[in-house]
Amino acid sequence: MSRKFFVGGNWKMNGTKKVADDLLGNLMKGSLDPNVDVLIGVPALYLDYVKEKSSCCIKVAAQNCYKVEKGAFTGEISPAMLKDIGVDWVILGHSERRQIFQETDLLIAEKVNHALQSGLSVVACIGETLDEREAGQTESVVAKQIKAIHEKICNWDNVVIAYEPVWAIGTGKTASPQQAQEVHKILRKWLADEVSEAVSQKTRIIYGGSVTAANCKDLAKECDIDGFLVGGASLKPEFVDIINAKQ
Ligand code: PGA
Repeated sequence: MSRKFFVGGNWKMNGTKKVADDLLGNLMKGSLDPNVDVLIGVPALYLDYVKEKSSCCIKVAAQNCYKVEKGAFTGEISPAMLKDIGVDWVILGHSERRQIFQETDLLIAEKVNHALQSGLSVVACIGETLDEREAGQTESVVAKQIKAIHEKICNWDNVVIAYEPVWAIGTGKTASPQQAQEVHKILRKWLADEVSEAVSQKTRIIYGGSVTAANCKDLAKECDIDGFLVGGASLKPEFVDIINAKQ
């Protein structure tokens, strides 16, 4: 089954309105491969602004949201609020949320479930640390993370899985195409064994961690790599080349 290539840019806590204008301008004037789903993960404060300014072929995502609709949760935003301003996507479980903000597998799974129930689509991030990789635990760590999500959700239709080895994020150390493919294949098999063959075949599994214009084409050749989640390079003009990596 062919899966539509999916490239997300995660701006993280970067940008101003001016920067957003420049990044959007660059995307909208670039000739983007129409066979690619393009998403940008925007700081919450700028979601409305970017949503208003971007063209319909660019999906706009929040970088986080909470696990309930409303209430006394100072500082949080809910899926209902995202829907209210026309945002249909959210990135959840990013390693910075896991590590810096101590989000657990359970909390992330609850967030994914509530976001899906609220009608959002989700980029769900998983990945091992360097210590875990060196201890030979990559497979068990990603299986534990994906299982936690599976236990909370009823349907994988609106989920894109982002495999992002923590040691590759923002470090300039990209996983080699073989290293990434190996884990993507493990994840696809996990979906086939634990969910269904159909879900395994149709769910996009994208790679993140120091993806650049220079390395994206080789990564994109691997059969289980269905796109990218891009941090640093999504703030640069080369993001267009990464979107077009399959061309
Ligand atoms: P990076 O970040 O491309 O800067 O390594 C990826 C991510 O955090 O999603």
